[in-house]
Amino acid sequence: MKILVTGGAGYIGSHTVVELLETDYEVVVIDNLSNSSEEPLRRVEQITGKSVDFIQGNILDGELLDQIFSQDKIDSVIHFAGLKAVGESVQIPLKYYENNISGTVVLCEAMARNGVKNIVFSSSATVYGDPHAVPITENFPTSATNPYGRSKLFIEEILRDIYVSDNDWNIALLRYFNPVGAHKSGRIGEDPNGIPNNLMPFISQVAVGKLPLLSVFGDDYDTHDGTGVRDYIHVVDLSQGHLKAVERLQDNPGIVTYNLGTGKGYSVLEMVEAFKNISGKDVPYKIVERRPGDIASCYADPSYAAKELGWKAERGIDEMMEDAWRWQSQNPQGY
Ligand code: NAD
Ligand code: UFG
Repeated sequence: MKILVTGGAGYIGSHTVVELLETDYEVVVIDNLSNSSEEPLRRVEQITGKSVDFIQGNILDGELLDQIFSQDKIDSVIHFAGLKAVGESVQIPLKYYENNISGTVVLCEAMARNGVKNIVFSSSATVYGDPHAVPITENFPTSATNPYGRSKLFIEEILRDIYVSDNDWNIALLRYFNPVGAHKSGRIGEDPNGIPNNLMPFISQVAVGKLPLLSVFGDDYDTHDGTGVRDYIHVVDLSQGHLKAVERLQDNPGIVTYNLGTGKGYSVLEMVEAFKNISGKDVPYKIVERRPGDIASCYADPSYAAKELGWKAERGIDEMMEDAWRWQSQNPQGY
């Protein structure tokens, strides 16, 4: 089976390409390298001993997509390509709508023209907005508070409309919780541009001495220690969820939605503590104001994915920390 992976040079994409190649899928990657480089794919080839067919290009380029679909018999698309910085999406919403929403429309048009109707889409727990309760099940109400989140919600709706118009499509909407960690080899991992927005890369860059101090955004939330609680999931577990989703599409399920999370919530201070225990490094921090838009608690009920996909996250918090630290300490400047 041959899979087209959009955004395959990125953080989650590169880890998923490893899992696909190791399971003997053939892989074609399209990525415009707007938030990545070719280096992760070179390292994916070293890790797996297999070659990756890489096309540098934009998913907004329908002609290029037609060429790819006509040259290769693609069975399914895993669609990671997208911009993902919440704060930036507030500053440049049109860029987010064009890249994420128009990009997905152009991709789906090319898929339809070429008779490829299986797609796995990277959605996000952000579509649950500020959830009324935790753990979160797939039937919770959805909402968005920023253009990034709205782009994910709109794309989910667009994919639902496509399915209503043509039942031959098979679509998996995967709602990721908070991906962290790295491949065991320490060769690929998360390499954010500039100062990280997300907690885990921030902690590891403080530990490696690139950043002086972690700011903990608020300690007065309604959580057990007052700091924000999230469902951190090892990126390799998350990647393996995509393989299960690709398999699921073969059974012609129509449109399906799964939470990909562990079901466990950890606070910011618990994450700092767990990282210190594993790395032996100090992570100095100070408590600052809440970050606008943040919520107190967000963690998944992953039982539907367990039942329907036969998938569950296997890697615990210590393994997430070990693997994040191996990547960061062996690649202090990233790629
Ligand atoms: P990433 O930025 O590392 O990877 C995305 C890749 O897509 C990059 O390599 C980028 O160059 C590429 N890309 C962007 N626009 C493109 C375009 N128009 N054409 C071709 N390539 C393009 O991000 P990631 O963390 O690997 O996230 C992958 C997907 O998962 C994204 O859609 C993201 O919104 C979603 N997601 C991520 C998280 C997270 O916390 N990392 C959480 C929920 C959902
Ligand atoms: N946090 C800090 N200091 C930091 C960074 C984060 O205290 O420097 C705290 C946040 O306040 C929050 C927790 O750490 O309580 C996690 O924050 P992240 O920024 O790592 O993650 P979020 O849950 O805010 O959001 C992430 C992605 C979203 C995605 C969501 C669900 O950024 O795009 O996970 O998948 F939608």
